[in-house]
Amino acid sequence: MLDRLIAKELQAHFPCGTIGQRIIVLEQTGSTNDAILQVATANSKEGLVLFAEHQTAGRGQRGNRWESAAGKGLWFSILLRPKIQINDSGRLTIWAIEAISDVIRTEFSLEPTIKLPNDVQLYGRKVAGVLLEMRAQEKAPHLAIVGIGINVNQSLEDFPLELQDRAISLAMALHRPVDRQQFAVVVLQNLDRTYHARFAPKR
Ligand code: BTN
Repeated sequence: MLDRLIAKELQAHFPCGTIGQRIIVLEQTGSTNDAILQVATANSKEGLVLFAEHQTAGRGQRGNRWESAAGKGLWFSILLRPKIQINDSGRLTIWAIEAISDVIRTEFSLEPTIKLPNDVQLYGRKVAGVLLEMRAQEKAPHLAIVGIGINVNQSLEDFPLELQDRAISLAMALHRPVDRQQFAVVVLQNLDRTYHARFAPKR
């Protein structure tokens, strides 16, 4: 049986955080990086998180397609307004992949490696990736959309044939399924804590 992500329950873990103060879960969308911009308004506070159980047009780096098997992974985007210049946006990608890698290490005692510019790998196979997109703003901090894809409960057959020798999920590495909701909370908590430590926005 597939587990479901429940926005209300996720959000209850972030009563006073920045990241996670508003969480949306869509059943399906094209790309969460696009959907979050449709939801956001000019005045939206940073920290909005939008998950989709399935993406029909998930994007990866360099125009690659990102496979998003329904209900098997974590596919989400975070809207931020960091006080950085657009040409410094690589710092956000590094922050996100380090946070994901740390959580995988501490939660599951696995040994992930970071492959720059945007991959987290296990046993030389990709387990997570980050797609960072920025929108310049004239009189406000620029908008950053941090798109994160983590392979959680896929089996090998859930990946397209051409990815089967390059991709891995946490469940494949652990030989057991992972509670996506619980894992999502820990990932968001780590991202929130480290975002404040590195980019120091006022609470
Ligand atoms: C990569 O490794 O090439 C980056 C992959 C990023 C995938 C995530 S899934 C959620 C968000 N929405 C997208 O369309 N892409 C990112």
